[in-house]
Amino acid sequence: MQIRKLGYTDLKLTTVGLGTWAIGGPWQWGWGPQDDDEAIAAILASLDAGINWIDTAAVYGLGHSEELVGEALKKASHKPIIATKCSLLWNDKKEKVSCLKAESIRRECHDSLKRLGIETIDLYQIHWPEPEEDIEQAWEEMAKLAKEGKIRYLGVSNFSVEQIKRLQKIHPVASLQPPYSMLHRDVEDELLAYCAQNEISVVAYSPMQRGLLTGKFSPERLASLPLDDHRRKSSDFHEPQFTATLELVEKLRPIAERNGRTLAQLSISWVLRRPEVTAAIVGARKPEQILETAPASDWDLNEEDIEQIEQLLIEHQAKL
Ligand SMILES: NC(=O)c1ccc[n+]([C@@H]2O[C@H](COP(=O)([O-])OP(=O)(O)OC[C@H]3O[C@@H](n4cnc5c(N)ncnc54)[C@H](OP(=O)(O)O)[C@@H]3O)[C@@H](O)[C@H]2O)c1
Repeated sequence: MQIRKLGYTDLKLTTVGLGTWAIGGPWQWGWGPQDDDEAIAAILASLDAGINWIDTAAVYGLGHSEELVGEALKKASHKPIIATKCSLLWNDKKEKVSCLKAESIRRECHDSLKRLGIETIDLYQIHWPEPEEDIEQAWEEMAKLAKEGKIRYLGVSNFSVEQIKRLQKIHPVASLQPPYSMLHRDVEDELLAYCAQNEISVVAYSPMQRGLLTGKFSPERLASLPLDDHRRKSSDFHEPQFTATLELVEKLRPIAERNGRTLAQLSISWVLRRPEVTAAIVGARKPEQILETAPASDWDLNEEDIEQIEQLLIEHQAKL
């Protein structure tokens, strides 16, 4: 698998990382029922396929995703790089709450280390910049935790350029984790260039737009999603976007096929075509899924394919 360096750090990441949101199981922003054994098998399969890093977060499954990663690490023959996130917590009613207070960040870090069963988090990321006035306070505490050896590098997710600049004055930002897929390209406006100029890695999330770009979605599949699958709430899965995206996917299919590849791989390799992107974080709920998507790391799209996809995306945008 191809490797790219994480920002200014000495970490070298495979360009496909494993995302573990969905495997956390049901909660307010869950993906419906999830079998734990299948989740652990997916994590181990990703490592066997050559993936060398895993992205998780405290809030995924309200701690359960981190616990499953911890379980898998006990069984793994080699240890991957571990990235997790703070700032999203849950209350007694299991509702998501945001907090960037120093004492909360410290407590979260200790809880995550315990669930993961590790001594040091390789990459600790602020999940969302909310409440915005507390981002410096959280970052200062994370820098202290790094000095204490609890964290190796500090990253952010869902931040703007202005917010990143505020943190850079305190401690270097190693990475930004933004959404990036054929359907959501805002990051191309200024974040990619800013990050490249400042040795900040971009690790892109939801490259397959939560499964929508894999070619395996249909109106029937959407109708059969469990009622507690958060995708039911997402505008990408509502009209007119949903039907327009299925039409786009059918136009992309021949491009994948003539390369002997799948649509899931095409959506990931498309994200990786940008040199400013260090890696794509790819979600999987069972081993077969990550075994299909991991090889996207080794596929460099050619100029002709990139140009044809660009035309299709312009047409797609014009429709909406
Ligand atoms: N920082 C943030 O705010 C943030 C936000 C979102 C995501 N993330 C991170 O990024 C990771 C990836 O993003 P994501 O999980 O939202 O989206 P994604 O990677 O675009 O899609 C993952 C989903 O697609 C489906 N899938 C996976 N492989 C497939 C295959 N080979 N064929 C068909 N379907 C397949 C699975 O769902 P089904 O099988 O149920 O369809 C899977 O859960 C997350 O796990 C998380 O670590 C971070």
